[in-house]
Amino acid sequence: MNAIADAIIPIHEYALLDEAECDARIRAAKAELNGRCIILGHHYQRDEVFKHADIFGDSLKLSREAAASAAEFIVFCGVHFMAEVADILSRPEQTAILPDLAAGCSMADMANKVKVQQCWDELSQFLDPEQSVTPVTYINSAADLKAFCGQHGGVVCTSSNAEKILNWSFSQREKVLFFPDQHLGRNTGYRMGIPLEQMAVWDFNRPQGGLTPEQIRDAKIILWKGYCSVHQAFQPRQIDDFLALYPETQVISHPEACFEVCQKSDYIGSTESILKIVRAAPANTRWLVATELNLVNRLNQECQAQGKHVHFMAPTLSMCSTMFRTDPQHLAWVLENLAAGHVVNRISVPPAVAEPAKKALLAMLEISA
Ligand code: 13P
Ligand code: SF4
Repeated sequence: MNAIADAIIPIHEYALLDEAECDARIRAAKAELNGRCIILGHHYQRDEVFKHADIFGDSLKLSREAAASAAEFIVFCGVHFMAEVADILSRPEQTAILPDLAAGCSMADMANKVKVQQCWDELSQFLDPEQSVTPVTYINSAADLKAFCGQHGGVVCTSSNAEKILNWSFSQREKVLFFPDQHLGRNTGYRMGIPLEQMAVWDFNRPQGGLTPEQIRDAKIILWKGYCSVHQAFQPRQIDDFLALYPETQVISHPEACFEVCQKSDYIGSTESILKIVRAAPANTRWLVATELNLVNRLNQECQAQGKHVHFMAPTLSMCSTMFRTDPQHLAWVLENLAAGHVVNRISVPPAVAEPAKKALLAMLEISA
């Protein structure tokens, strides 16, 4: 790019650029922006995008980085809720940008404000939720659900701090309403010693969540019936089959995988801790990993030099299609527009939502510090 453009450069001008051309233009635009822009990249990003990130990490690390960043522009190579968190936690003069607005999260979409409010109202027929239920939302949720938690004495959690957050939540009130991912809630609750019978699943499509008054009263955690379609692909049978071939294998899973998979795993952890554990393992070890394909492929390549073998758990390739939306063409597009003085794809959470959502996010950061 060689001139300041008067108008926004349209995305279609980038559609046919090949990777090498995108690379060169992304680097040039970054150099032109000269430190005014930081690129955050989630571990599930494809290689062609991931290599341009200034900082990469899991949701917790990236939300901390967004809060700490001094850059004027935060370009988030991740999904929509992550860019919302960056906007909420950054200073007012900073701008959060999501290269492709279609990069959502299907799990986050399984809970919305209307359904959660309806659940809260229905619970109040059997107990006083304001006194006895801490609402906890996984960070994979829309900003207005984080705001709901902020308004009702609740908090946000990520896959790497869920246990600390649940401990705190139980110190506040006797029960937890956990949304939208039932698996993270169940896997964490069980690890904390809560029996499965005390974790009731709230089916948001049925009156009273499909639960009896007794089930509601007896539940320690009420789990929203949401799940991640990517992590659904992992099944306990895949572990059995693999171990039959390679019995020395260690199994590591993201807590969004189902209970049975996590029970058969040697380790359970966020994307960041999966990377840490496998990297720190002795040479010549073998790993079976239940999380997104881009991360697993990259980790396998990285570890080959040490003779480690890192395998993807599912027999079919299971990528996060929304993470995949962010391609080098969109990244080049937002950066060149920024360099030309135009903000495209800004993510801006309205103050009435951002303020209570920030309360719940800051509570999380403090508890998990
Ligand atoms: P992490 O916080 O572990 O990076 O997980 C985010 C996510 O969306 C996993 O599907
Ligand atoms: Fe959402 Fe699942 Fe993709 Fe994570 S992997 S962003 S939970 S759809």
